[in-house]
Amino acid sequence: MLIKKIQLKNYRNYSDAEVVFNENSNVLYGENAQGKTNILESIYLCGTTRSHQGSKDKEIIKLNENEAHIKMFIEKNGLEHRIDMHLRKNNSKGIAINGVPIKRSTELVGLVNIIIFSPRDLNIINNGPSERRRFIDMELCQLDRIYIDNLTRYNKVLKQRNHLLKQVKYEESLKEMISVWDEQLVKYGIEVIKARDNFIKGVNPIAKDIHDRLTGGKEVLDVLYEPNVSIEEFENKIKSNTDRDIYYSMTHYGPHRDDMKFIVNDMDMRTYGSQGQKKSSALSLKLSEIEIVKNKTNDVPVLLLDDVLSELDRSRQTYLIDCFEGVQTIITCTGLEEFIKRNVSFDKVYKVVDGSVSEDI
Ligand SMILES: Nc1ncnc2c1ncn2[C@@H]1O[C@H](COP(=O)(O)OP(=O)(O)OP(=O)(O)O)[C@@H](O)[C@H]1O
Ligand SMILES: [Mg+2]
Repeated sequence: MLIKKIQLKNYRNYSDAEVVFNENSNVLYGENAQGKTNILESIYLCGTTRSHQGSKDKEIIKLNENEAHIKMFIEKNGLEHRIDMHLRKNNSKGIAINGVPIKRSTELVGLVNIIIFSPRDLNIINNGPSERRRFIDMELCQLDRIYIDNLTRYNKVLKQRNHLLKQVKYEESLKEMISVWDEQLVKYGIEVIKARDNFIKGVNPIAKDIHDRLTGGKEVLDVLYEPNVSIEEFENKIKSNTDRDIYYSMTHYGPHRDDMKFIVNDMDMRTYGSQGQKKSSALSLKLSEIEIVKNKTNDVPVLLLDDVLSELDRSRQTYLIDCFEGVQTIITCTGLEEFIKRNVSFDKVYKVVDGSVSEDI
């Protein structure tokens, strides 16, 4: 797929903006706080219904305004599509595909495939398990409607169960109600665990292969799923820990506590990795997504890179730049000097200044 054009109205620091993209490489450059990331965020949001930064709609709407609009024009299998997204301060967002409103945001799944890569992703191994779960969920939610459904239901049941656990502390009689939630928690939780397990099993050989090339054969990477509880044990653990759960007013077992581990040459990178090794492993993981999306959807995803090149050393930069080949890429950076020095050219160059984007010719 290709992103042809995006139009923004009252989106963060943009009052009115339009950016037309080339089908190959595009760069948005400018000083800090001018609106580069905002453009990438708007593309990701319009394609997936979620901000990659986890921002709420009301934070995204331009200050002192009540609504924001994004219009994105894409091309897929030779056909043009338009996605309209309408963000409202006090209401849920409205989405239309080719002018036809959609009822559920999952209807967008499959139309747009985007991979966004920001410095936060390079720190996935330094950060806590929640960042690693976020990675899995962001990817799976783009690829699998059923996963979104199961995850949403799981999170809802978990919230309700935790709420009840708090109440039981003050009202013993409510204790027997917990088992009602347990049953559903286990049912949806098992589906979440299965999908995550499958996904990471697919990621591992691809990331391993990329890592082998990235490190010139020096490092062997394994990306492994570390479920908090196995499918077989889940129900038992939930049932046998009810009193502890009540005491702490929280659910101790379940995929909301899952993790992922990265093993390089038999060492767990979370504990023993050097900063460089952690970044390389994160890069291999992230780049494996391109292959995963290609394999799963028969479509080439669009790559959005938010200021990540400056975080990498020269050889990793070169590896990443080589991945742009045949993939529509939109990158942001603060300056072009490094690219000019290295003879890397872009098909479209945009300068971003204080909420306005202009073509650099
Ligand atoms: N809801 C909003 N309304 C108005 N302005 C906003 C809103 N949200 C963010 N901004 C402004 O957007 C600007 C940040 O934009 P963005 O994060 O895209 O910058 P950037 O060009 O990527 O900068 P950097 O190089 O530092 O990453 C800030 O000046 C911020 O105040
Ligand atoms: Mg930025």
